[in-house]
Amino acid sequence: MAPVAVSSIEDKYDASQFQSAHQGKTKKGSFTVSEENKKQALYPEYLPTWNPNQKFPPYKFQEYHDKGLQGDKNYKNLFSQDKDYQVKRMTPKLGSVVEGIQLSQLDDAAKNDLARLISDRGVVVFKKQDFNSLGPEFAINFMKYFGTLHTHPTSGAPENFPQMHITFRGASQQEIDSVFKTRTNSILWHSDCSYSLNALQLTLFSCLQLPESGGDTLFANTVEAYERLSPAMQQRLEGLHILHSSVEQAEANKKAGGITRREPETNIHPIVRVNPTTGKKHLYVNKEFGRRIVELKQDESDYLLNFLYDHIERAQDLQIRVSWEPDTIVFWNNGTTVHTPCVDFDEPVIRHAYRISAMGERPVADVKYLNDPDYLSEKYKELNI
Ligand SMILES: [Fe+2]
Repeated sequence: MAPVAVSSIEDKYDASQFQSAHQGKTKKGSFTVSEENKKQALYPEYLPTWNPNQKFPPYKFQEYHDKGLQGDKNYKNLFSQDKDYQVKRMTPKLGSVVEGIQLSQLDDAAKNDLARLISDRGVVVFKKQDFNSLGPEFAINFMKYFGTLHTHPTSGAPENFPQMHITFRGASQQEIDSVFKTRTNSILWHSDCSYSLNALQLTLFSCLQLPESGGDTLFANTVEAYERLSPAMQQRLEGLHILHSSVEQAEANKKAGGITRREPETNIHPIVRVNPTTGKKHLYVNKEFGRRIVELKQDESDYLLNFLYDHIERAQDLQIRVSWEPDTIVFWNNGTTVHTPCVDFDEPVIRHAYRISAMGERPVADVKYLNDPDYLSEKYKELNI
């Protein structure tokens, strides 16, 4: 059996990474999108730039205190009686759509409820938001409330906002064609940057400019994926850990002419993780960054991981599909869900979006290890990481 996933990384188009089509330069000398794309961008202040001289130190372990634990279980501050709002569940266990609440107006108590709602529902879609017009700084400050913001190691960002991860697909047929040059589809289920020691947790995504249709995001519920397994399989997974790595992502990016803002990271995380807010167990596996189960031989690891990937990818009864509209903001929990882009555009138009992720806890198999800096230290020594 072929090793899991690694070979697919270089072949895929990632709209957040440097592309050969990006030939523009900013006044400060950073790379940016082409003049042609710049002219067509509706939100130029959010365009990605790649500064080859920008470097960030490696991440160190951080203690984490979830705002969701301070939230009301009925979200009474977020959904107060005097507001005219609507909340609809997309499916019974995953995803909610909210209308009639303006996120930019929330106070801290309502933000705590929001964090709790995102943990409970996995994905929450807010329609008709004013965030995009308020500029990058507003969105960054909003997200800082929930934790330290993650800075992506290789992606482009607006010049003064490195924590804003930009995805930008230009108005070119070549960019669409490059997605399918070596692949039959664009689906790649993943959890963002799962190689990070503290996991990316509460995540905001907003589309600034988009085609009339196309470019949906699909989400799968990893709590439900765990609960669907037999007790015997659940037991088999207990105590196993996956090595997650960004080495291949960094190499592919370098090869394309991109930048490295932080050196690649390799970390191990439990295959079954617990969400400290809800206490629920969930699978923490993804093909993009997961390399192998460290307690197993490679063939055994491939066998088991391929089963788990297939289980999540094929179970459409634990997935949702979010369609983007202008001024829609989507939040997700990057642990209790996995997601995939869907590239199905048929005409060359710009798709411009941003993501901001607050970092959460270092993933643990049991809440008793939450915020323990020595968690898995023996395993790290054993594996020489
Ligand atoms: Fe992603």
